[in-house]
Amino acid sequence: MKTLIIYYSRTQITEKIAKTIQKDLNCDIEEITSGEKYHGVIGYIKGGFDASANRVCEINKPTKNPEDYDLVIIGTPVWASTMATPIYSYLKKYNDKIKNLASFCTCGGSGYTKTLNKISKITNKNPIATMYLTKEDIENPKEKINNFENKIKNR
Ligand SMILES: Cc1cc2nc3c(=O)[nH]c(=O)nc-3n(C[C@H](O)[C@H](O)[C@H](O)COP(=O)(O)O)c2cc1C
Repeated sequence: MKTLIIYYSRTQITEKIAKTIQKDLNCDIEEITSGEKYHGVIGYIKGGFDASANRVCEINKPTKNPEDYDLVIIGTPVWASTMATPIYSYLKKYNDKIKNLASFCTCGGSGYTKTLNKISKITNKNPIATMYLTKEDIENPKEKINNFENKIKNR
C-alpha cells in the first residue's frame, strides 16, 4: 500500500513519532509548516486561539499529491482539544484527495478523542488505524506505535 505521512509539529514531539513510523513502514513523509506564526509563547497563545476558533493559516505548498497514495497518515499535536491549525488548514484544502485514512495525535493528556474524530469528520473517512500518545506515552511509545503499524500492515 503506497503510503504518505503528513504531519505538523511545533516542538518536534509529533515529528519524532512521524519519522519512526516512516522508517518502520518505509513510506513517504511530508511536513506541513506555517512559518514562524506559532513559535514561542505568543505562538502558543495564537495556536490555542486559532485552533478553537477553527481558523485556517498559510501553509507551505505540499510537494506530494495525496491522490497518488493509497493511504494518508495524518499526524498532529492536540491544540485546544482539536488538531493543530496547520493540519486543519491542510485538510480543508486536500480532504477530498485522501483515499484511505489513518491518524495519530500527541498531547499532554486530553482532547485526543475529539481530535481524532474531527480528522475523520473533515476527511469523511473511517480511519483504518488511529493512535494517541500522551506525555506519559511519549516516554515509551513502542507498543502503541507497533499496534498502530500492525493495523496498517494487516489491512
Ligand atoms: C496551542 C496549544 C494547545 C494545546 N492544547 C492541548 C490540549 O488541549 N490538550 C492536551 O493534552 N495538550 C495540549 N497541548 C500540548 C500538545 O498537544 C503536546 O505538547 C504535543 O505533544 C506537542 O506536539 P509537537 O511537539 O509535535 O508540537 C497544546 C499545545 C499547544 C501549543
